Amino acid sequence: MSGMLDGKSAVVTGAGSGVGRASALRFAEEGARVVCADISLERVEETAALVAKAGGTAVAVRADVCAEDDVVAMLDAAVENFGRLDIVFNNAGIPTPRLGAKLEDHSVEDFERLIGVNLRGVFLGSKHAVLRFKAQGGGGVVLNTGSVAGLVGWGGSVYGATKGGVHQLTRAVAVEGAPFGIRANAICPAGMPYTGFMAAGGLGDGSGPDEETVRMTGAQHPLGNPITAEDCAEAAIYLVSDRAANVTGVLLPVDGGYVAK
Ligand SMILES: NC(=O)c1ccc[n+]([C@@H]2O[C@H](COP(=O)([O-])OP(=O)(O)OC[C@H]3O[C@@H](n4cnc5c(N)ncnc54)[C@H](O)[C@@H]3O)[C@@H](O)[C@H]2O)c1
Repeated sequence: MSGMLDGKSAVVTGAGSGVGRASALRFAEEGARVVCADISLERVEETAALVAKAGGTAVAVRADVCAEDDVVAMLDAAVENFGRLDIVFNNAGIPTPRLGAKLEDHSVEDFERLIGVNLRGVFLGSKHAVLRFKAQGGGGVVLNTGSVAGLVGWGGSVYGATKGGVHQLTRAVAVEGAPFGIRANAICPAGMPYTGFMAAGGLGDGSGPDEETVRMTGAQHPLGNPITAEDCAEAAIYLVSDRAANVTGVLLPVDGGYVAK
């Protein structure tokens, strides 16, 4: 049976955990060869091993998405290993440093760190993807991970601002890239208690969410369930595949109806 991403070469950032790991696994299952990039080499090597165990093809690369040289090297890795670059999924992101922090609770260092990873990282990944796609010819696909926090005024003020910026970059790349066959879209997840994100934001000890967190997260969404990394991976596969050949500039909530509420 043919896969939705047969013959494609993809880079996924933040592939050491959560949405990035689930997407790397599913992209490979659909036939893509995947560069799994993350700031944690150990975790991304685990992801590449899981892909290989499932019969797919992946390489692990340590890359800090804030560092331009790392971003260029991670895209080079796709060309060196797989001959070309078709898909760049700029997914790596960090949460508000203290969950529930209001605007005035953020230090300048908090602001710069959030902007640095969540917005600068997507800027660098998108910029170098576009340069590579144009040099290569034949178009290409950028997918970014935004957030419902960038669509509504709740979910972290500075964090939400970084994601609002990601959404605008996505639209701009879609419009500027269209004459070159370059598409750009974003997935906008709502609360995902099962990824490493909430622990990274200081909630829980990293051993997984407690029942109350899961219940409360799900209760915010009309469909009643928390969002999972796998929900995001399924949306991502569609947007990066040729089935979405005429879909660009879309900010797709993966949110159980939260934004529609
Ligand atoms: N979990 C949620 O509730 C939620 C909701 C909306 C949007 N998101 C977004 O989804 C994306 C994925 O988050 P997740 O829930 O899978 O979180 P996660 O913490 O499980 O995974 C994030 C990964 O990004 C990596 N990373 C962090 N900084 C990096 C850097 N500078 N360079 C490279 N890699 C880096 C981490 O090592 C980690 O492996 C993020 O962009 C996040 O903002 C998450």
